[in-house]
Amino acid sequence: MNAQGHLEIGGCDAVALAERFGTPLYVLDEEAFRTKCREYRRAFESRYPNTVIAYAGKACLNRALCRMVHQEGLSLDVASIGELMTALTASFPAQDLHLHGVYKTEEELRLAIESRVGAIVIDNFDEIARLKRVLDTLPLSHPVAVLIRVAPEVEASTHPLIRTGQLDSKFGFHIISGDAQCAVEQVLSEPRLSLKGFHCHIGSQIDDLTAYAEAVRAMVGFSAQVRQRTGFTPAVLNLGGGLAVRYTPEDTPPTPDALAEVLIDTLRAECRRHQLPEPALVVEPGRSLIAEAGVTLYRVGAVKRVPHQRPDLPTDYLIVDGGVSDNPRPQMYGARYTAVNAHKAAPHLPTRPYRILGKHCETDPLIEWADLPETQTGEVIAVLTTGAYAYSMSSNYNRYPRPAMVSVSNGQARILVERETPESVLAHDR
Ligand code: LLP
Repeated sequence: MNAQGHLEIGGCDAVALAERFGTPLYVLDEEAFRTKCREYRRAFESRYPNTVIAYAGKACLNRALCRMVHQEGLSLDVASIGELMTALTASFPAQDLHLHGVYKTEEELRLAIESRVGAIVIDNFDEIARLKRVLDTLPLSHPVAVLIRVAPEVEASTHPLIRTGQLDSKFGFHIISGDAQCAVEQVLSEPRLSLKGFHCHIGSQIDDLTAYAEAVRAMVGFSAQVRQRTGFTPAVLNLGGGLAVRYTPEDTPPTPDALAEVLIDTLRAECRRHQLPEPALVVEPGRSLIAEAGVTLYRVGAVKRVPHQRPDLPTDYLIVDGGVSDNPRPQMYGARYTAVNAHKAAPHLPTRPYRILGKHCETDPLIEWADLPETQTGEVIAVLTTGAYAYSMSSNYNRYPRPAMVSVSNGQARILVERETPESVLAHDR
């Protein structure tokens, strides 16, 4: 809060940001993001120097973010041609990129190979065949570095739509079916592919670390089994991302330090037990690096009192100038957020309950229950912790242009992504 009682982000007055750049507006606190990058590196490198932290770009990506990630010494995980091209055109070093995806097209694979990304993470047998077809069309060069994605068959406690390492997962090769072992054999028999190791990712917004320990046990156990059968020893183990963040005051997610401790202690113990050399460790957090550095600013366009009798919902509604098109997470996952009236940010003002809804042509709540000071039409509402999976999952629903993104640091704001315009939304129509 600043002297005027307004919300301040990165030394900038949030009300002034909304005035200057318009709303809705994605605001990224650059120092908060960079501090998290450093916190992650310290947590892992202090315990296990042979660690690479790769930011999972699907959480939020643009060229400016690629440059920040590189400046902080992190690698980058990309999962589509769009993310890959964002990184390459931001001059992100290709060897520090790895490419994910359950269905990578030939075009994506070709670009990844030609630009010499650090690794391609193979998801399925069709992809092995597709990779070979792409390699047939390219001049022979160095073997392509690959990891094999394995489903460790553990259930992370999180929303079912963002759980990815369990028995019914669509991702990776399963261990118990024998597919993972078979994939290793196929890759080892292809001289144009160079197998570096294994990957797993068990899900997202995970606040119970026990599933991580289980995943490490499964992955090291699998590695030991592979070594016994083929003689191959993984040089790299990528354990994915998934750490939860704090969306509401009740949330108490584990810290990167706690995650590092569980992963590394388990990894060391399991390698000892299986007499396996300790591999290079890669982790690829997305949400927990950027979520809390992001805030979305909206302007209230209507205040309504709705005569319902439901005790679980406030009767005062705030309609804001964004919603499901700039943040689909409340609708998709029932995600909960915290709001602040940017004009009245003092901590102990009297409040009343509001339901905050978007402007789209359906019921698109952003927050079902927000205790805010008396709020008027025209005021700016800040929704906190929107750095991850809001901008990256945004759409043009109702043909609304996407908001701009600005970064704030030391009282200075700069545009990272321009606001779309109605004309730019129409640009692809014939
Ligand atoms: N690595 C892989 C292979 C992934 O699929 C993901 C996320 C990550 C790393 C990063 O996970 P994080 O640290 O961000 O949890 N749209 C959903 C989240 C989907 C996560 C997809 N994969 C949401 O808004 O909650």
